[in-house]
Amino acid sequence: MGEFTGRKVLVLGGSRGIGKAIVRRFAKAGAAVAFTYAGSKDAAEDLAAESGAEAVRTDSADRDALIATVAERGALDVLVVNAGTLVLGDPLTLDPDAVDRMIDVNVRAPYHAAVEAARRMTDGGRIIVIGSVNGDRMPFAGGAAYALTKAAVQGMVRGLARDFGDRGITVNAIQPGPTDSDMNPADGPMASTMHGFMAIKRHVHADEVAELTAYIAGPHAAMITGSFQTIDGGFGA
Ligand SMILES: NC(=O)c1ccc[n+]([C@@H]2O[C@H](COP(=O)([O-])OP(=O)(O)OC[C@H]3O[C@@H](n4cnc5c(N)ncnc54)[C@H](OP(=O)(O)O)[C@@H]3O)[C@@H](O)[C@H]2O)c1
Repeated sequence: MGEFTGRKVLVLGGSRGIGKAIVRRFAKAGAAVAFTYAGSKDAAEDLAAESGAEAVRTDSADRDALIATVAERGALDVLVVNAGTLVLGDPLTLDPDAVDRMIDVNVRAPYHAAVEAARRMTDGGRIIVIGSVNGDRMPFAGGAAYALTKAAVQGMVRGLARDFGDRGITVNAIQPGPTDSDMNPADGPMASTMHGFMAIKRHVHADEVAELTAYIAGPHAAMITGSFQTIDGGFGA
C-alpha cells in the first residue's frame, strides 16, 4: 500500500517542471493521478507512459473547458493547481494581451478550478495552489504583473479555506522561490541575480516542491489551511 493508494488526484499543468515532479510524487505513492497540459503533448504522453497517470489536454485559460475537465474527474481527494505562466518586463511596454493571459491562467483558472473541485470533493480533501514567494516579495523591476497574480492567489486561499473548512477541506498555497525548470533554469541568465536574494544560494529542486505538496496533501496536514507554505531558500526572508 502506498501513502496515497485509493486517492484520486488531479494536477493542473503537469507536463513539465514542478507539475511533472508533483505528478510523479503522487503516482509513485499509489494515487490515481490525472494531469492537464496545454502545449507539451509529447512531454505529457511520455510522463503518462512513465508514471501511469492520465494526461488530459486542457488549456487553463479556457474557463469552460477547465471547469468541464475538473467536473469530469468526479470526487477528487486532492486538486493541485500548478499551471502558471511568467510574463516579465517593463510595464510600459509589456503586451497587455500577454498580461491578461497570465491573469487568466494564474488567477482565474485556480479560482474556477478550486470551486468546481470543491463541489464534489470528498470531505477532508485538499486544494493546493502553486503560488510564489513573489506574492510576498518582488525585489526586482519588471515583475509587477506576475506578483499581482501570486498575491491574488493568497487572497483566494484565505477566503476558500473559510468557505470549505466545515467539510474538513483544506486550501493552501505552496510558494516556491526560484525553482529549476524551463520557466526559470538554474543555469539561466537570471540565476545569479536570484541567488543574490537568497540565504541558500541555489535553485529549489522541483522534487523538493513536490515533497512539500505531498505533505500538505497528507494526513498530518489536516489543520493546515488558509496558509502559504514558502519553500524559497530564504528569498523572502
Ligand atoms: N520555476 C520557478 O522559479 C517558480 C517559482 C515560483 C513559482 N512558480 C510557479 O510554479 C508553477 C509551475 O512553474 P514551472 O517553473 O514548473 O513552469 P514551467 O516549467 O514553465 O511548466 C509550466 C507547466 O504548466 C503548464 N501550463 C502552462 N500554461 C498552461 C495552460 N494555459 N494550461 C494548462 N497547463 C499550462 C505547462 O504545460 P504545457 O507545456 O503543456 O503548456 C507546464 O506543464 C507556476 O504556477 C509558476 O508560477 C515557479
